[in-house]
Amino acid sequence: MGTFNAGPPINRRVFLRHSGRSAGVLALGAGVGLQGCESHPTLPEPDARTSLMIPRTMDAADALLTAGAAELDLGSHASRGWGYNGTLPGPTLRARVGERARLDVLNQLSEETTIHWHGLVVPASMDGHPADAVAPGASYRYDYPVVQRAGMNWYHPHPHGRTGRQVWRGLAGAFIVEDPAAEQGLPSGDREIPLLLRDGLLDGSGQLEYRRRDSGMVGDFPLVNGVPYPRITLAPALHRFRVLNAANARVFRLGMSDGSRLTLIGNDGGLLDQPLELDTIELGPAERVDILLDLSDQATGAGLSLRCNRARWDLLEMRVAGEQAREMVIPAAFSPIPRLSVGSNTRRRTFRFEGHRRINGREYRMDHIEFRVPLGETEIWELESAGGAPHPVHVHGAHFQVVSRSGGRGRVFPWERGWKDTVLLEDRERVEIAIRFDSYRGVYLLHCHKLEHEDAGMMLNFEVT
Ligand code: C2O
Ligand code: CU
Repeated sequence: MGTFNAGPPINRRVFLRHSGRSAGVLALGAGVGLQGCESHPTLPEPDARTSLMIPRTMDAADALLTAGAAELDLGSHASRGWGYNGTLPGPTLRARVGERARLDVLNQLSEETTIHWHGLVVPASMDGHPADAVAPGASYRYDYPVVQRAGMNWYHPHPHGRTGRQVWRGLAGAFIVEDPAAEQGLPSGDREIPLLLRDGLLDGSGQLEYRRRDSGMVGDFPLVNGVPYPRITLAPALHRFRVLNAANARVFRLGMSDGSRLTLIGNDGGLLDQPLELDTIELGPAERVDILLDLSDQATGAGLSLRCNRARWDLLEMRVAGEQAREMVIPAAFSPIPRLSVGSNTRRRTFRFEGHRRINGREYRMDHIEFRVPLGETEIWELESAGGAPHPVHVHGAHFQVVSRSGGRGRVFPWERGWKDTVLLEDRERVEIAIRFDSYRGVYLLHCHKLEHEDAGMMLNFEVT
């Protein structure tokens, strides 16, 4: 099993600069841990930031993904982790609408795993259900047509009770579905940048540490594409960021350090019907947003950063340099999104997400089907939080539309328009979604995407019939 360097080479000077204090910081780490960034993070922000790593791209039509050991470059030192094809995050898969994805997964871990293609609507046998576990040393071919709208999806393990640890150790990657016609006029190439956001925590010896706790595994420093506190140099031009919250449990509140606005153009299920200008975007685990940032008026040398205003982290430091690009105009509208029609006789179901491990009073039973949904019929599902929030609720097998939110924050946010596959529930919230399974019959999952909740049992099977 080979190990590879996930990021840019370790910067000797940075290493030396930090090695003096790292012993103290790392020793503190074990005790401070989950108090988070308010106290001393186990990996402090360095004086000089490392370059953002852009994961390499692979064609989903024919790819081999090996789940195994990987090395995480933390700038000051390296940490052992897991990854797909030796990197953390794994390669970015790309496919066009209408193509077929053929992905061989080889499990070189010492425990079972599966891959779930989060956001992709695939046949039940290809969905990475925990019952379809891939044993250590074994492989599995995932083979399915890409039938949905263009958008940013992702892939990660989904084995029974072990998802949190496997994702935390580094098994995750982006899967972008493209549609050149629908995406015409949007920045592409090196102006289209995937940002996989998560957090990390180190143990006393500086190694990425997983501590399973009921309330969710939260770290105390940011990792963007596997790089702690990265920086990037950007041309004075329009840029497209494909942002995924790949954290186990942390919610990010995104904004720009200089107050400039973000143009939201898409989310989980692809492009919205029109762009929206926002100061703040809140992103729960597994949610995605597609945003444009216009730097064309910025002078060379200008500095700004993408922040998380919840953790008060400068996630990505940006420096403007280079040629002013040919002016690009943000399209005024994208294709319309028809509302799923619901009426007084629409079937309703209620799901209470209780504490840290139950939905409607039950923990997950892998062999039990909790309910059946007819193919092609729209239903309203009411999702309620009852302790243990936030609960990012995710449905496999279809996208849905957020109809309403009452209690708590009391509204549907702009980044929750269009098509979603994950919706965030804060304390005392009730969210109604409209959902229709159009593509496949079979057994799919509904669960909390706070991965420690999922692993503890906050998940159920249902069957589309
Ligand atoms: Cu992203 Cu059921 O998972
Ligand atoms: Cu939860």
